[in-house]
Amino acid sequence: NWSMHDFIDIEVEKIRNQVGNDKVLLALSGGVDSSVVAALLHKAIGNQLYCMFIDHGLLRKGEAEGVMEMFGKEMNINLTKVDASKRFLSKLKGISDPEQKRKIIGNEFVYTFDEEVKKLVAGENIKWLAQGTLYTDVIESGTKTAQTIKSHHNVGGLPEDMQFQLIEPLNTLFKDEVRALGTELGLPESMVWRQPFPGPGLGIRVLGEITEEKLEIVRDSDLILREEIAKAGLERDIWQYFTCLPDIRSVGVMGDQRTYDYTVAVRAVTSIDGMTSDWAKIPYEVLNAISVRIVNEVAHVNRVVYDITSKPPSTIEWE
Ligand code: XMP
Repeated sequence: NWSMHDFIDIEVEKIRNQVGNDKVLLALSGGVDSSVVAALLHKAIGNQLYCMFIDHGLLRKGEAEGVMEMFGKEMNINLTKVDASKRFLSKLKGISDPEQKRKIIGNEFVYTFDEEVKKLVAGENIKWLAQGTLYTDVIESGTKTAQTIKSHHNVGGLPEDMQFQLIEPLNTLFKDEVRALGTELGLPESMVWRQPFPGPGLGIRVLGEITEEKLEIVRDSDLILREEIAKAGLERDIWQYFTCLPDIRSVGVMGDQRTYDYTVAVRAVTSIDGMTSDWAKIPYEVLNAISVRIVNEVAHVNRVVYDITSKPPSTIEWE
C-alpha cells in the first residue's frame, strides 16, 4: 500500500543520510519539477539547501516575483536571485535564427550559472547539486534520436567540469507522480499544475529578433490570455496556452486612423506529453473576449489570430 506519504518519508531519510551536514545547491526555475525538488529538500535538510534562480529576462509577467514570494518569503528557503536579463538580451541582439537563439540562451545560462555558483560556493562550500530529473528524462536520454527538431534547453543543462555530486530525488517518478508529491508536500495548486514553460522562455515566442518592446507585447497579451482562460474555467482542459509574436505587422484602423501594427498569435493545445498535440477547441465567446482585450489593452497590436494546427505537422512553440 504505497503512497506519496511513504515516498516522502523514505526520500527524506535517504537524503539526510546521503548529505549529512553538507550543503546542497539547486537551480530553481519555478517549473513543477525544480519546485517539487526544492520543497522536498527543504523538508529534508532545511537551510542546508541553497537555491539559485536566474532571471534571463525572458520570463512571463509576474513569474520572477512569484518565485521569490513563494520560495523566498513563504517557505523561507535560502534563495539567491540573479538578474541576468541585460546580459542575455545583449547577447541576443541582432539574432533572429531560432536555433541560434536557443543555443545562445542555453550557453548563456550555463555561463551565468557557472559564474554565480563560483561566487556562492566560495563562501559556502557546497558539495551537492540537486536536479529535477524525471524518470522520463532518464529514459529519453538513453534513446536520443539522430535528428534534432529543436535543441531543447533545460535548467538541468550544466557545465561539465562542475565538481558536484548529484542528487536526483525525482528520477523514479513520472510527471503525474511529481504533481501528487508536490501536492502532498503542500505546494499550491497553481504551482503543481503549472503548464510547461520552455527553458528559452519568451525568447522563442518573440519570433525573429528579440527586443524589449516585443517582449512586453508578449508578456501583456499572455497575461490577458491566462486571465481569460482562468475566468472561463478552462485551465485544466488545455494542456498549454500562450501568446506569441510573429514577426509581422499589418494594416488596421483605429477611430478613423490607419494603423500599422503587430499581430499577436494565440496558441492553445491539448496534449498528453507534448510529443503530439491538437489545437484546443476554445469556445468562440472566450476567443472573442481574448481578442478584444488584447487589441484594446496592449499597445501596438491591431490583430489577433488563433493557431489551428495540430502537431505534427506544426510544433507547439513557433520556434
Ligand atoms: P514543441 O515546440 O517542440 O514543444 O512542439 C513541445 C513541448 O516542449 C516545450 N519546449 C521546451 N521545453 N526547453 C524545454 O524545457 C526547450 O527548449 C523547449 N522547447 C519547447 C514546449 O513548450 C512544449 O511544451
